[in-house]
Amino acid sequence: MVSERATRTTPFAAMDVLERANRMDDVVHLEVGEPDFDTPPAVTEAAVAALRAGETGYTSSMGKPELRRAIADYYDRRYGVDVSPDRIVVTSGSSPALLLAFSTLIDPGDEVVLTDPYYACYPNFVRQCDGRLSTVDLSAADGFRPDAAAFARTVDSETDALLLNSPANPTGAVFDGDTLAELVTLAEAADATVISDEVYHGLSYGEPAHSVLEYTDDAFVVDGFSKRFAMTGWRLGWLVAPPEYVDHVNRIAQNTLICAPNFVQSGGIAALESGDDFLDDVRETYRERRDFLVSEVEKWGLSLDYTPGGAYYLLVDVSDLPGDAFDAADFFLEEAGVATTPGPDFGTNAEDCLRISYANSAEKLAEASERIQDALAGVELQAAD
Ligand SMILES: Cc1ncc(COP(=O)(O)O)c(C=O)c1O
Repeated sequence: MVSERATRTTPFAAMDVLERANRMDDVVHLEVGEPDFDTPPAVTEAAVAALRAGETGYTSSMGKPELRRAIADYYDRRYGVDVSPDRIVVTSGSSPALLLAFSTLIDPGDEVVLTDPYYACYPNFVRQCDGRLSTVDLSAADGFRPDAAAFARTVDSETDALLLNSPANPTGAVFDGDTLAELVTLAEAADATVISDEVYHGLSYGEPAHSVLEYTDDAFVVDGFSKRFAMTGWRLGWLVAPPEYVDHVNRIAQNTLICAPNFVQSGGIAALESGDDFLDDVRETYRERRDFLVSEVEKWGLSLDYTPGGAYYLLVDVSDLPGDAFDAADFFLEEAGVATTPGPDFGTNAEDCLRISYANSAEKLAEASERIQDALAGVELQAAD
């Protein structure tokens, strides 16, 4: 019999839309959270060389020492924080790192506080551990940035973990350093542990995003290569755990993951050692695309009450269109040939929205915008409340 836990797990709508859009001709894809750039050649060359050199066996479950050292060096270089490689566990993408963090921390009934909107998969990670979700509302009017006072109203002695994500999916919001510091203090006072998903770090267009590790060692950090180095299909990430948790994380990793692929880890070393220029280039390109799309949304007659500071998403309010967000996504797909992701998957505060990804070329974005403008020209927008 299918377990109750499996029954409670919801599908990931972005992947459903992608599958549907892939069956259609001539669709501009703005639904997926996947860079359209090629992986930097030096990374591919390093992985191919590793394959040719026979690096095809298991590695330590914690990951290759050289890669863990390169990750530690990255924390030093980028944030000026000292992270011992002993606290770093290499994983097959940041998703397994999330699973390791939750499996290590959460018992049935434990409370996990996260923002709403949230990354659509988070509630399912909590469900896998039979945890309990509690959310802090974010709004476009505040740029979808959290205010520590709002967290303070939700976090209490019942709270076991705070899950933070900046730059955020689906909003692109970037939390400032002071807010992160306040949330760390709040978590400490409640004896709760912070899990910080930093997978979009490197992709922020104002101030660089801060790591939670700048404010505490007592937090889990989930990160990976997918987004910043255009390596989604490589499946490589890592978890930084507080020292007293590492052994337990590793036990679960040994049993469930064994290790991340050997030669892929060699690609990861090359990415960290030589990927800074690539990241500078793609960041500039994403910034241009964001600026373009933000100004286009207004031409569509829709409202975007904030400017996202990072990642590659806009959360666009479509409540002025007839029907709900699913109808709006259908309309964009069927009438404009543009695939987007309906907001409800990302929480109640994204219910009236579409998530639009600008991880696509300037030409495709221009084409999508023109198509949307044409399709919406015949639609009577409802007056906003
Ligand atoms: C916020 C967030 N965390 C984690 C992930 C998973 O990324 P990975 O490819 O490293 O598993 C994603 C992917 O879209 C994401 O948006």
